[in-house]
Amino acid sequence: MEIKLNNFFMESNKSETSRNDLLTLVRSLKYRIILDRELRRPNSWLTDKKNNSVNCTGVKPVNYVQKQLIDGKSVFTKEENTKVITLEDIRRDMESCHRCPLEKTRQNLVFGEGNPFADLVFVGEAPGAEEDLQGRPFVGRAGQLLTKIIVAMGLKREDVYICNILKCRPPGNRNPLPEEIEVCEPYLVRQIQTIRPKVICALGTFAAQTLLKKKGIPITALRGQFHDYHGIYLMPTYHPAYLLRNPGAKKQVWEDVQKIMKVLTGEYQGGM
Ligand code: URA
Repeated sequence: MEIKLNNFFMESNKSETSRNDLLTLVRSLKYRIILDRELRRPNSWLTDKKNNSVNCTGVKPVNYVQKQLIDGKSVFTKEENTKVITLEDIRRDMESCHRCPLEKTRQNLVFGEGNPFADLVFVGEAPGAEEDLQGRPFVGRAGQLLTKIIVAMGLKREDVYICNILKCRPPGNRNPLPEEIEVCEPYLVRQIQTIRPKVICALGTFAAQTLLKKKGIPITALRGQFHDYHGIYLMPTYHPAYLLRNPGAKKQVWEDVQKIMKVLTGEYQGGM
């Protein structure tokens, strides 16, 4: 078996990396075995990619709805005996969405893609030019770096789910407007309720502030620790586009994703 340690984190302090790399590798393999078992696919990390098709129907036996707790927090809880909502249902709703003017300027809806049963969901800001052309999230330069991060975690893009706060490209890649976020976010909430991951990784300021309702709090203050998103672990970290401009911040992102790996493998003992 050939194991390639990705060069994503090679810029960090070399003396720390060898032990950390080994730990990460063990953690990644452990997680992949757990994931393969859950998805009933034979050890995908040992076999040919083409033979490992994941069931992509997005059908789960129950829906999850938001339930308010007495202490003011809320969790997504199982709602039995209702029609099962799939990601395809949500996509269909979105295709006829006229909630904001972005549908007029976009080329394609960028709904999101990946494993509908993913334990890990990455949420970015909004599609850029390349994503708009292809109708797929994170396929431009920042997307290539995100793919490297995922591979460095010992995963593949198909293992996780990748989406954005906005599903249509803001013209000229301008920042999302508050009114666009307000009308688009409910679709994201439905996606997360349907997938019900263990961990959400919020990429960058907009994703972190929107999901955590912490407008004005900088990503530097939010990243690096878990937050409670309706009972799901949420880790904010720097956006890959920021890493392209500031490669020195890769080390912090690597620390953040290692914490995520610990939750995925069941090793994380801390709270949210
Ligand atoms: N940046 C984002 O936030 N999302 C994408 O899909 C691509 C770049």
